[in-house]
Amino acid sequence: MRCSSAAEVAEAIRTMAVRGAPAIGVAAAYGMALAALRGEDLAEAERSLAASRPTAVNLPWALARMRDDPTPERSRVLHEEEVDRCRRMAAHAAALFQPGTRALTHCNAGGLATGGYGSAVGALRAAAERGLLERVLVDETRPLLQGARLTAWELEQAGISHAVIADSAAGSLMARAEVDLVVTGADRIAANGDTANKIGTYSLAVLAAHHEIPFYVVAPTSTLDSETPDGAGIPIEERDPAELTGRFPARNPAFDVTPATLIAAIVTEAGVHRPPYEESLP
Ligand code: MRU
Repeated sequence: MRCSSAAEVAEAIRTMAVRGAPAIGVAAAYGMALAALRGEDLAEAERSLAASRPTAVNLPWALARMRDDPTPERSRVLHEEEVDRCRRMAAHAAALFQPGTRALTHCNAGGLATGGYGSAVGALRAAAERGLLERVLVDETRPLLQGARLTAWELEQAGISHAVIADSAAGSLMARAEVDLVVTGADRIAANGDTANKIGTYSLAVLAAHHEIPFYVVAPTSTLDSETPDGAGIPIEERDPAELTGRFPARNPAFDVTPATLIAAIVTEAGVHRPPYEESLP
């Protein structure tokens, strides 16, 4: 897919041709560079990109970084730095795995969501490279199936043993002691560690707590929102109900908030952060 204006990039983000919090930020940065190259109204370009999706804080984060230098060079550096953060956080996260770990993940937090390598999938890749990962259960991730369509493909490409499961199978497989840890990405992490991620993440964290399985979030510092004190302040996107059904009334919240109390550690490129997150997050 080729985008040649900020408006086309905004549309690609809105329709989720590009998705995943860090990748949305990277795309928005390229959108601003395109706008500047084409002599577009930069304030209008920034407004349309900022309005394309509400939850991932990486979007306003990237737009703010492009404001004083909206050049292709700046956007490429922002992209490269985001991938570099992925590699660094994945190395930290791999220390949370033991030999033979059976992990479960939700949504897609891989290279397709970050501009390269991945956050939660990056952690799985790093653990696999160190011989610590037995296999991954991949939540299909309803309603748009980022797990079944994207994460499974990325794990296949990486040669990592995996199996797609219905989201509703996670609890039963935890009860059968088939899951050692859960690892996900994030779209926005509030100052207290409350974390917004793909709808279904919260349910997974509650299940993990019940089964005493550690629940880890892996995300770059570009996903931290120190200005939002807790999860109540995170805007949650409601998408078109037609993504679920065109026949009946429906609700389609695209994200949920996992309270910090359910998160065993948040891993950024700066290291492994444990509660209380007000003090430990960078
Ligand atoms: O609606 P999406 O596909 O953009 O949601 C993506 C997620 O929730 C990811 O888990 C999150 O952005 C982290 S990506 C490294």
